[in-house]
Amino acid sequence: MAGTATASTRQYSGKDLSEAARRHLWMHFSRLAGEPHAPLPVIVRGEGCYVYDADGKRYLDGLSALYCVNAGHGRPELADAAAAQLRELDFYTNWSYVHPRAIELAERLADLAPADLNRVFFTSGGSEAVESALKLARQYHGLTGHPRKWKTIAREVAYHGSSAGALSVTGITEIRTPFEPLAGGGCHVPNTNSYRWPEGRDPLWAAEAIAERIEFEGPDTVAAVILEPVQNGGGCIPPQDGYFQRVREICDHYSVLLVSDEVICSWGRIGHIFGSERYGYRPDIITTAKGITSANAPLGAMIASDRVAEPFLHGTRSFAHGFTFGGHPLATAIALANIDLIEREDLCGHVRAKEGEFRAMLESLSDLPIVGDVRGAGYFQAIELVKDKRTKETFDDEESERLLRGFLSGALYHHGLICRADDRGDPVIQLAPPLIADSEQFAEIEHVLRTVLGAASELL
Ligand SMILES: Cc1ncc(COP(=O)(O)O)c(C=O)c1O
Repeated sequence: MAGTATASTRQYSGKDLSEAARRHLWMHFSRLAGEPHAPLPVIVRGEGCYVYDADGKRYLDGLSALYCVNAGHGRPELADAAAAQLRELDFYTNWSYVHPRAIELAERLADLAPADLNRVFFTSGGSEAVESALKLARQYHGLTGHPRKWKTIAREVAYHGSSAGALSVTGITEIRTPFEPLAGGGCHVPNTNSYRWPEGRDPLWAAEAIAERIEFEGPDTVAAVILEPVQNGGGCIPPQDGYFQRVREICDHYSVLLVSDEVICSWGRIGHIFGSERYGYRPDIITTAKGITSANAPLGAMIASDRVAEPFLHGTRSFAHGFTFGGHPLATAIALANIDLIEREDLCGHVRAKEGEFRAMLESLSDLPIVGDVRGAGYFQAIELVKDKRTKETFDDEESERLLRGFLSGALYHHGLICRADDRGDPVIQLAPPLIADSEQFAEIEHVLRTVLGAASELL
């Protein structure tokens, strides 16, 4: 590193930070060339539902950073838990040795998780949790006499992570193709975005597509189905009534494990600790991360049922898999304090009580020509943008680029609202505020969206 001082030796201005970032920081999923003359948004402080940039400007964090600061920014309880833990035990692994916070958290997760999901494997984040679930499903089938069961069925446009295995089940073409050939076994089926379905289609059509795909692949080759309770990619796509019940029947019929990827949809995001509770289904494995610590430290978990863990309980067998930092004492201590906080403040109850008002606010924007569909659950909602509301015509790639990157992202930020303008499926705006958000924040979101989407409608 040449010619620049570190933050500890020099007070940076927002412009300095942005320029240093352009030179040295490799941002994730971002165009490094970007817009060279536009400064990068540098966020330096957070409090409650708000964050502040290096120039002191305040933004409503309508995305909880990346669907993860569930309890809101700057919670002193979490900082205290972190400091106390580092003083007591900085680090020990969960490889052969164990430490108290990982044990306490595993017990707590087993208590909170549905049915007999009692065995917890910690990771450092969501991709690692998904990676772990895919590998566990394969090894489980191998140990129970079905070594050819190795494929996983996932849905189109779903994001399950960017590590090689997780990417193989991710259903977003643009982020798959640069890395092909991928780890094998990922098979994709349609998602539940019924806004884009022809009229009159059977509501359980997307569930039946899973059975068809299992038949097509050969039932003795399929290990798992991985689904989010509400699909993030494509814009907060909820399931049809009865979808998960039918998927559960299909999985049971073909002896396929059902993995509920709740990296976003747990810890109150859709009004329940685990998203599967909202739709009343029983997964064999849950993957979670993000809001488990309200993003105060990196942590993920894979929670497996007793049935899935059982074959590993004999003789010399082990799950041949691990990560140095999975279940770090710092992260598990913070997670315990975060769960205390979610329970004490009844954030799940708050989301359930307030989601109707949040949704009604977003639906009130439906008079704008560009607003096509409003969908989602809890504090996880999206607006699908359309060129023509009547025909549901969407934007072509070039129009979408101009609308989302050329206008919307910048304009929303300029007006003090952080949310996600995304076109990995059809173009959407996604909102997932901290779970402490209330009527005051909804009014702010409405004001900015009406101003900016109104201006975007004029550009149509
Ligand atoms: C459903 C789902 N699974 C997995 C992941 C990957 O998580 P991470 O980015 O923590 O690796 C994400 C990330 O957004 C996700 O939304």
